[in-house]
Amino acid sequence: MLGAVQLGLLAACVVLFVPMGMAGWHLSRNKMLFFSCALFITLAVGVHLTPYFPSISAFLSPSEVISTPASLYRDSCVLLLHRVVYSDVGECDDIGANFDDNENGCKRSWDWTKNGEVDECDFQKLKKSDASDLLNGSWVVVAGDSQSRLMVVSLLELVMGSEGVERIKGDLFKRHSDYSVMVEEIGMKLDFVWAPYVANLTELTLRYKGSKDFPDILMMGAGLWDMLHVNNVSEFGVSLRVLRDSVLTLLPVSSSLDAGGGVVSEPKPSHLLHLFWVGMPTLITSMLNTAEKKQRMTAAMCSSYDKELTGSKLLRQSGGPLLKLDIGLLSDFCGLRCTSDGMHYDEVVYDAALQIMLNALLIESNQKPQ
Ligand SMILES: *[C@@H]1O[C@H](CO)[C@@H](O)[C@H](O)[C@H]1NC(C)=O
Ligand SMILES: *[C@@H]1O[C@H](CO)[C@@H](O)[C@H](O)[C@H]1NC(C)=O
Ligand SMILES: *[C@@H]1O[C@H](CO)[C@@H](O)[C@H](O)[C@H]1NC(C)=O
Repeated sequence: MLGAVQLGLLAACVVLFVPMGMAGWHLSRNKMLFFSCALFITLAVGVHLTPYFPSISAFLSPSEVISTPASLYRDSCVLLLHRVVYSDVGECDDIGANFDDNENGCKRSWDWTKNGEVDECDFQKLKKSDASDLLNGSWVVVAGDSQSRLMVVSLLELVMGSEGVERIKGDLFKRHSDYSVMVEEIGMKLDFVWAPYVANLTELTLRYKGSKDFPDILMMGAGLWDMLHVNNVSEFGVSLRVLRDSVLTLLPVSSSLDAGGGVVSEPKPSHLLHLFWVGMPTLITSMLNTAEKKQRMTAAMCSSYDKELTGSKLLRQSGGPLLKLDIGLLSDFCGLRCTSDGMHYDEVVYDAALQIMLNALLIESNQKPQ
C-alpha cells in the first residue's frame, strides 16, 4: 500500500535525483533548476488533484475504498429497504387468518432478509423509544384511503401501544372522515386526511403551499377508489401528473430530498419535508367482496394503474419526489393468508411498510453509521 508519506518521499527523490541525473548529461545549472522546478510543480499539482479522481486515490489507498461515501450508501440502501420476509410463529391458517384473532397462537412476523447486501445496511426495527426520538416534535400527515389509514394504525401502535390505539379506534375509523391526534408523550402531531382520489391529494398539497405551513413527514396514496369508481387509466395518469407538479412546487421551499448534500436555500434547516407514497396493495380479485369490485379491479387494471404511476414520474424510483412504500410488493410477499377481503391486509404488512419508512428517514437524516 502506498501511503501519503511514501508518496511524498518518492516525489522528493524524483525532484532531487532526476535533475541531478540530467546534470550528468551536461545540462547547465539554470536548465537543471528549471527542470527541478517544473518537476516539483507537476508533482505538487498531481498530489493535490489526486483526491478528485476517485480511481487514482482508490489505487493509492485501498483502505479508503471500503468506507463508501454517504450518498452512495444512502442510495443503495434505500433500494434494498423492501427486501423483507415473513414468518409464522405458532399455528397459522392458510387463508385469511386475521392478525387480531390469533386463537391458535398464530403470530406473523417479518424481518429484512439476511443476505450480505441487506445486512450491510444495518436496517433496524425501531422500537417505541427510537421512534420517539426520531419523531419527537414533528408533524406527520398521512393522506389517502383505507390503506393510508392502516399506516396510521401501525404508526400509532408503535408510539402509543395497542391500548392507546384501542381507545381512539372508534374515532379513527369513522367512515370517510379526517382524524387528528396529538401524541403528547412524544410531542408528535398526527393528521389523517381522508383523500380517496388523487385530486384530493393535490388539493391538500395546494393547501399547504397556500398556508406556507408544511408537515415534516407527508405520506400519501390513492388509486383504489379511482379504479372502482372512475376506472379510466388515462385520467388517472393525468391526475398523477397534476399531483406531481403540485408537489414539486412545495419542494424548493423545504426539502432535503433533492439536495444531494449540496446547498439548500432553506431558511429553517431543521424543518425538512419528507415525502412518501403509500402504494396500492396487491388485489386478490376472487376475494373482493362485491361484484363491482371483482369486475373492475382486475389484475390487468392494477398493472395499467401501476404503469401510469411509474410513467407519471411522481415516485423517486422514477426520478420524482416521493419515495414509494411498496404495499403491493409487501402484501404480495405475505400472500392470501394475510388478507380476508383481498384488499386490506394484516397489520404485519403495514408494520413492515412503517419500519421501511422510518429507516428511510434515518438514512435521509444521515443518522446511520457509514
Ligand atoms: C422531546 O424533545 C424535548 C425537547 O426538545 C425533550 O424535552 C423531551 O424529553 C423529548 N421527548 C422524548 C420522548 O424524547
Ligand atoms: C375528493 O375529490 C373528489 C373528486 O374530485 C370530490 O368529489 C370529493 O368531494 C373530494 N373529497 C374530499 C374529502 O375532499
Ligand atoms: C378516459 O378518459 C378520457 C378523457 O377524459 C376519454 O377520452 C376516454 O374515452 C376515457 N376512456 C374510457 C375507457 O372511458
